[in-house]
Amino acid sequence: MNETPANGSGRPIIERIASRLLYPTSRPREKSLRSEVSGRIVLVTGASHGIGKASARKLAAAGGIVVLVARSREDLEQVAAGIAAEGGIAHVYPTDMTDMDAVERLGRGLLDEHGHVDILVNNAGKSIRRSIDESYDRFHDFTRTIDVNYLGPVKLLLTLLPSMRERRQGHIVNISTWGVMMPPAPRWAAYGASKTAFDVWLRSVAAEISADKVTTTSIYMPLVHTRMSAPTDFSRVPGLTVDEASDLVCHAIAAKPREIAPWWSPGVQAWSDLTRGRAQRFMERSFRR
Ligand SMILES: NC(=O)c1ccc[n+]([C@@H]2O[C@H](COP(=O)([O-])OP(=O)(O)OC[C@H]3O[C@@H](n4cnc5c(N)ncnc54)[C@H](OP(=O)(O)O)[C@@H]3O)[C@@H](O)[C@H]2O)c1
Repeated sequence: MNETPANGSGRPIIERIASRLLYPTSRPREKSLRSEVSGRIVLVTGASHGIGKASARKLAAAGGIVVLVARSREDLEQVAAGIAAEGGIAHVYPTDMTDMDAVERLGRGLLDEHGHVDILVNNAGKSIRRSIDESYDRFHDFTRTIDVNYLGPVKLLLTLLPSMRERRQGHIVNISTWGVMMPPAPRWAAYGASKTAFDVWLRSVAAEISADKVTTTSIYMPLVHTRMSAPTDFSRVPGLTVDEASDLVCHAIAAKPREIAPWWSPGVQAWSDLTRGRAQRFMERSFRR
């Protein structure tokens, strides 16, 4: 499947203006990003495509030693070759994040070979949009989303966290979705539940590990035009380009805020909390078959 050009060239001007207003992003100052990543081991899962690939390239360009994880070795090697051609350092670790033994081997292998991991960008993910009528014989939709979006990252962090805490250094950036802040969306049950599970898990754990100077940032990412979002018709929905989304990832690493979310999301959350019945009725009206 083709990916939208990383800088979004070709997007209608009206969509570019709308996405600028709804999701303003800015590139972090090169100096502050460089001081956070230079010479550091930066693990990016889902680094073969989309947001992860663009982030890995920027983090390597800022001096990070990037560790690229995804299932496809060939795609990862292409990304690593691009990084090397630009003078950066990248290592390739093909791993299926739904295979818990492989995830544990990944974590242990990284600690053996590199000594530690400084920064983890938890980005590998799978989305499924399917109504419940079409899901009765598809239990695997729920297991595979929960495996890649929740259990795999938990397993990886169970392996890496002791070392981060002992060294009193580590930053975890989770690529969550704005959907977890909104009223639950029909047809996104498998995806929404799995992304919410890891979001809650990480925020709970964050309170326990902050005393050891291990920090977390949850990015409540809006729509980004990638191969993941391509199968759903979001043509009239303003979204970010891969370039803009990876700027958010770099900002998360440079500034270490606890969360990054669209500026209007607290208002929508408050509206949803105050008028729970109305938000639910709005969903029911909008998503009739
Ligand atoms: N696009 C959006 O609108 C949007 C919005 C909010 C949040 N997000 C989140 O952003 C993250 C990246 O999404 P994207 O849009 O950049 O998607 P993408 O272009 O499809 O990239 C997904 C990446 O994850 C890897 N991946 C998928 N399954 C994997 C598995 N089992 N094990 C290891 N790696 C796996 C893929 O590589 P392989 O296929 O080679 O394994 C690929 O590198 C996801 O967590 C997604 O939930 C996306």
